[in-house]
Amino acid sequence: MTTEILKADEEGINKAAMLLKQGSVVGIPTETVYGLAANALDENAVRAIFTAKGRPSDNPLIVHISNMKMLYNLVSDVPDVAIKVAQRFWPGPLTMIFKKKDIIPNITSGGLDTVGIRMPADVTARLIIEKSGLPLAAPSANLSGSPSPTDSKHVYSDMNGRVPAIVDGGACGVGVESTVISFEDNSIRILRPGFVSPEDLSELGENVIIDSGVLEMLDANAVVRSPGMKYKHYSPNAQVYIVDSDFEKFSEFMKTKAEYGTYAVVFGNEPEIADVKAISYGVASEEQAHNLFDVLRRLDEIGAKNAYFRCPSRKGVGLAVYNRLLRAAAFRLITL
Ligand code: TXA
Ligand code: MG
Repeated sequence: MTTEILKADEEGINKAAMLLKQGSVVGIPTETVYGLAANALDENAVRAIFTAKGRPSDNPLIVHISNMKMLYNLVSDVPDVAIKVAQRFWPGPLTMIFKKKDIIPNITSGGLDTVGIRMPADVTARLIIEKSGLPLAAPSANLSGSPSPTDSKHVYSDMNGRVPAIVDGGACGVGVESTVISFEDNSIRILRPGFVSPEDLSELGENVIIDSGVLEMLDANAVVRSPGMKYKHYSPNAQVYIVDSDFEKFSEFMKTKAEYGTYAVVFGNEPEIADVKAISYGVASEEQAHNLFDVLRRLDEIGAKNAYFRCPSRKGVGLAVYNRLLRAAAFRLITL
């Protein structure tokens, strides 16, 4: 199959909507990362997403909508707190878990009786949903295990020959996937951190719990609330390490590691370290979120063997950066 790159103009959006109505899989931009979209209500279309991604079938997909009426068609119970969250953060980079209606096939929900729903803010994504008239199941548009794609080039590199079309909407603004939350006994539980931070959610006056899977390695017997957390994720070919220290100690440590194929991944404003190759992933947490997956992919392009990342802040969207980096590093955290 040849993969067509569609522009994010009226013609491209119409073509994407038509392909989706025919049951095809299309790569689409969103404000977080690119998604691999198909009709969430069509078992065969959703099966084709799993095939294109090489994704395990028990890992559920997020369903993307463009208005609240679509939400009520798909889920059976919308708690009051969800309405509050929606009013504040939708459309935007946030996914809520609800009890699903039978209209959602089991393949979409990975066999669970719940479903994750997101109303994206990206204009192109919204137009594609509206023009197709369909709720769109869309996981991140990377091959399973690879860093999420934040540019159409990343999608093309993973999906060329696997999907009929990719809509090119340029670089994604946020750069990390949506915050995933569920509701329980008057609390909001964060299953996956994202641009909407625990601090942001707390401002609604609700109790916010950060699930243990966010910062800890889940052991084989743990109860997994978010199936995605148990899989290998975001792994470049390079061995990634997170180094938690000040710059002085980091630079002394890196001098002992200097060799061909080893890179320091620093904040943007730091001095050079003699004999050590360095790349930057930005200073502010928002900037680091925007750059992280591109930097992980770039490390592979330059043939990096080892990459030592300066430890990000865990505040605000920094928690999402840290969560993704922990997985890219297979939890290799060095504290100096
Ligand atoms: O920003 C995003 O969320 C992107 C864009 C394309 O919207 N999508 C995305 O999808 O990141 P994916 O499939 O790569 O990640 C979905 C995450 C997984 O960790 C999955 O386990 C979790 O959401 N999830 C989905 N449905 C769930 C459910 N019913 N219960 C618990 N976790 C769920
Ligand atoms: Mg993903």
